[in-house]
Amino acid sequence: MRVELSSEDAESVEADVLGVPLAEPASPLPASVSALDERLEGRLDRVVAEEAVAKTRGQTAVLHTADGRVVASGLGPGSSVDSDAVRTAASGVARATSRVGGTVAWVVDGDLDVPVTEQARAAVDGFVLGGYDPGRWKADGDRPRPFERMLLVGADESALAAAERAARVALAANRARDLANAPANELTPERLAYRALEIGDAHEHMRAEGLGPDEIRELEMGAFAGVAQGSHNPPRLIVMRYDPPDPAGEVVLGLVGKAITFDTGGISIKPAAYMEDMKGDMAGGAAVIEGIGAIAELGLPLRAIAVVAATENMVGGHAYRPGDILRARNGKTIEVINTDAEGRLVLADALTYAREQGATHIVDFATLTGVMEAAMGDLYAGVFGNDAEWRDRVVEAGEASGDHAWPWPLHQRFRRYIDSAFADMKNSSILRQGVPVLAAEFLQEFAGEGPWAHVDMAGTGFFTWPRPDYLWQKGGTGYGVRLITELAGRLSA
Ligand code: BES
Ligand code: MN
Ligand code: ZN
Repeated sequence: MRVELSSEDAESVEADVLGVPLAEPASPLPASVSALDERLEGRLDRVVAEEAVAKTRGQTAVLHTADGRVVASGLGPGSSVDSDAVRTAASGVARATSRVGGTVAWVVDGDLDVPVTEQARAAVDGFVLGGYDPGRWKADGDRPRPFERMLLVGADESALAAAERAARVALAANRARDLANAPANELTPERLAYRALEIGDAHEHMRAEGLGPDEIRELEMGAFAGVAQGSHNPPRLIVMRYDPPDPAGEVVLGLVGKAITFDTGGISIKPAAYMEDMKGDMAGGAAVIEGIGAIAELGLPLRAIAVVAATENMVGGHAYRPGDILRARNGKTIEVINTDAEGRLVLADALTYAREQGATHIVDFATLTGVMEAAMGDLYAGVFGNDAEWRDRVVEAGEASGDHAWPWPLHQRFRRYIDSAFADMKNSSILRQGVPVLAAEFLQEFAGEGPWAHVDMAGTGFFTWPRPDYLWQKGGTGYGVRLITELAGRLSA
């Protein structure tokens, strides 16, 4: 989607759809649309009042005019308008006009509490994410038509720059959603690696490779290989390196992703209900792949390396079992208690590798524990870290980008959760305490020297039930792509 500044006001802008965000109370209408309402002979004011549009975020009313459509969209109570309200209002417009396409204009209202630049950025975010179509496998060709062009009414050059960047990032997030929504019979580890190679080919300073089972074995990645040994579709260790010519500093951002293309649970098999959603257990890896792609597309002057461990977690005669003892690449041994705690095993070797390849600051992204979803719902990811400052920078980047994140604790006294009688550690515990913390304690054993943060996005990465805001569809959310690009932008500023 192209983003441009409009030189016209709301009453004279030419567009197929004009989106008008309105906070409660909406009467009298804001100054930015009073002339528009005069042209419409008071119909905007009337429909907004009659349909109580402003009271509810994303609630819309569509007015057909001589040359297009005016869509009023609610921001909710004026006292609580924030970036997410703008995203949701923009998404409401996209949803109400999903078959229109063409040009959409958006009114940025200087009287709102959200700064103009942030409004522009959030509106683009809401349009692109809210206009996403998860139904691309439907045979019926009648699918939504995304807008090709967006005009910002009442914004300035710096708002335009932020909005253009937001459009690129949100489109990358939608590509991560495409990957998460792709079923495991299509999106094999090999196919995911192919997508990474495609990104590598598209950008001058990016190189990508996909290491296969033999190389994974040669690298002595026993934890990753243990999970992968049960499936016929071979695993891939996906490695992407972004080396811009003039990096701003010494930081090498390491992005590590869990990409289980399907998680049956293995021998510790999962129950049938909603198991189909485990095609989305590669959402962390997808965010890392599309996130580093967006970093390259934006040309951010920051060195970055992505390491994504892609495999299925299957049942079968070759599958790993509870009781198996695996030896990870860093030499540590792991007793497998539960084959469904596979994410931490594949991440263990990916973390070691990212450090070996020169990552100075690491963040990993993983749909790791069901308990994280139980605790934080579909809104916040939990963030752990071995360095409070780094963890907080990750949290802040998430909060600023729309990918909500909240800090979680690590503590030496939690280490006993993963003590094993036979090996250096175990991958799970029968004790039902601190499940997401146990997983993070486990990962910390492989984080090496230097700052590391772990983002458990089990609740936010893939929706079983849609969220009633701008991410209103079931399935992949693209969680992590906005956080990654915001973090990279801050590190290279
Ligand atoms: N992929 C799951 C976690 C998950 C569950 C993500 C629900 C999204 C929604 C992960 O591999 C898993 O199975 N975790 C186990 C860990 C347990 C065995 C310690 C879990 O959460 O039950
Ligand atoms: Mn699992
Ligand atoms: Zn999993």
